[in-house]
This record gives sequence, C-alpha cells and structure tokens, in this order.
Amino acid sequence: MVNYKDLGLVNTREMFKRAVAGGYAIPAFNFNTMEQMQAIVQAAVETKSPVIMQVSKGARNYANATILRYMAEGAVAYAKELGCEHPEIVLHLDHGDSFELCKDCIDMGFSSVMYDGSSLPYEENIKISRQVVEYAHKYDVTVECELGVLAGVEDEVASEVSHYTKPEEVIDFATRTGCDSLAISIGTSHGAYKFKPEQCTRDPKTGKLVPPPLAFDVLHEIENKLPGFPIVLHGSSSVPQEEVDTINKFGGNLPDAVGIPEEQLREASKSAVCKINIDSDSRLAMTAAVRQYLAEHPDHFDPRQYLKPARENMKKMYIHKIVDVLGSDGKLAQ
Ligand code: G3H
Ligand code: 13P
Ligand code: ZN
Repeated sequence: MVNYKDLGLVNTREMFKRAVAGGYAIPAFNFNTMEQMQAIVQAAVETKSPVIMQVSKGARNYANATILRYMAEGAVAYAKELGCEHPEIVLHLDHGDSFELCKDCIDMGFSSVMYDGSSLPYEENIKISRQVVEYAHKYDVTVECELGVLAGVEDEVASEVSHYTKPEEVIDFATRTGCDSLAISIGTSHGAYKFKPEQCTRDPKTGKLVPPPLAFDVLHEIENKLPGFPIVLHGSSSVPQEEVDTINKFGGNLPDAVGIPEEQLREASKSAVCKINIDSDSRLAMTAAVRQYLAEHPDHFDPRQYLKPARENMKKMYIHKIVDVLGSDGKLAQ
C-alpha cells in the first residue's frame, strides 16, 4: 500500500473548494507518455496552476500502471526542480470501470479516482460508486462519479446515445454515493468528432462546422440543486482547427473534426464546473507537430528531433487552456 501523501501528491478536495468559490476550473490533462508529463508539469509550474494528471485504463495498458505512477511521483520532483516549492499535482484515475480497478489505483498511490458507472442502471451505479467512496475515503482519496451518459465511447464504457444528466436525480445520487465531485452530461463528448455535421451549422467563410451550444440550462439546474458542489466536464477538448489543418496539410485526414468552443468552456469554468477534462487536444497538438516536423525533415529519424517540437506544442496548448480558458493560473495555495 502506497499513500499518495508520501509521494507529494494532493487530492482534489481543497483545490475544488477554491475553484468553485473563485469561479475557475482545474485542468485535468490525460497523459500516456513522458513528453506529455513534462509538458503538463512545465505548463503548470510556469502558470502557477494546480493540475490534475489523469490516467485512463487505456493509458495503463499502453504505458504500464507502475510506470505511470512513478512518472507522477517524478512530476512532483520535477515541478520542484523547476522552482515550484509547493506544487499541487493530483494523480487521478480517469473512467475507472470497476471497484477493483479503483482500489488498485488507490493502493498504488493515486490521490483521486473516478468511478464511471454512468452506463449502468441508476441503482447499480449508486451501489458501486458508494463502495468506491467508502474505500477511497479511508485513505483520504477523493472520488469523482458520473451521472448521465456522454455520446461516443468513454474508454471502454460505451453508450450509443447522449443522455443529459437529469437534474432531479443529482441530490439523491450525490447524497447516497458520498462522492466528492460529479461528472455530468450537458452535450460534451469524447474525441475529435464531438458532433455530426448534421448537428452543426457551417461557417460560410471557412466551411468549418459550428457546433450547437452546451446545455447551460441543465448545468444551472444542477447547480441550483447542489449549490457549491464540484461539477466535472468530460469531453472538453476544443479540437483547435489550426492543429487539424496542420495535420491535414501534412498527410493526415481528419475531415470535419470539431470540438467544444473555448468561450463555452470559459463560461462553464465560472460556474460550479471545477474540473475540465482535456485529452484529444493534446493528441492533436502532438500529432500536428510530429507530422509537420517529419514532412519538413524527411532525413531525420531521431525521435528526440520530432518529439521536442511535439512537447513544445503541447506545452503551448496546456498554457493556453490554463490561462485563457480555465483561469487556474496563479491559483496555487502557496
Ligand atoms: O475519456 C477518454 C480519455 O480521452 C482517455 O482515452 O481510453 O484512449 O486513453 P483512452
Ligand atoms: P476529450 O476527448 O474531449 O479530450 O475528453 C477527454 C476526457 O474526457 C477524458 O476523460
Ligand atoms: Zn472522460
């Protein structure tokens, strides 16, 4: 049993309290590789922002759970080395799909876990969520649960259609599970294709898709039911069109990729939404930089040559999210 506090990590409780009160959101960036980890830490240190580094089941399968845990421990040491005396870094399990997976992560030093029972019947979701919360709270690990289903594929938790969270269920769900934060569905979804072209209009000048707005009415109803309770938004990449264009220009093929407009995320950050999940934008930033570099340097083959601009591009994106979208810059407790 490894306690996250011994690794210098923190849970989400205090940072969420401050974020809700202060009208900003904490960035939750997924990581699978060393370059992502380095870029996240550099961005968080330079902006003096708390940060959540999250690991999906897919990331555990790709990189190995133990390695990712040591990378998070290394992230704390790296932040200090970069001059941040008191970094606030959370190591979070993203979309845990069983009690056993959540327990395994808690036992190996995660400071926060998500149990995602959103595809289960309501009572079953409550039952397992409660079980995870009871175990996690013994070790002061915070727990995110999910109510309402996002469209598309959530890790391996699948759903065919999007069901917004029902505001009339949130008090019962939060009370009976004892969860520390609640992921809700208000129109976001995972990946780089968040809306079908028929759900969007098209900008006549650029030909780009313009997505429909998020269901802010549902968000506000939920906030009224649970005043001050930490709310989480998954599927919140904006799918920057300049990255999509670079990818397509240098041999990629991502037609009609579309995300959540940043001004809507900025708006959501001012509410009880205190954690915003971003993964796809990092993938796009990395892929765009690698494609461009390799196309322009066909004779290069050292991964350090093309992963360096990839890391720089991700860092630029992370800083932009922190400063211009979520507003978590300068929000370290000390
Ligand atoms: O919610 C999904 C995250 O973007 C993680 O994706 O399962 O491909 O690692 P992944
Ligand atoms: P994106 O695919 O929009 O980046 O969402 C990531 C996410 O929700 C991780 O849990
Ligand atoms: Zn998610």
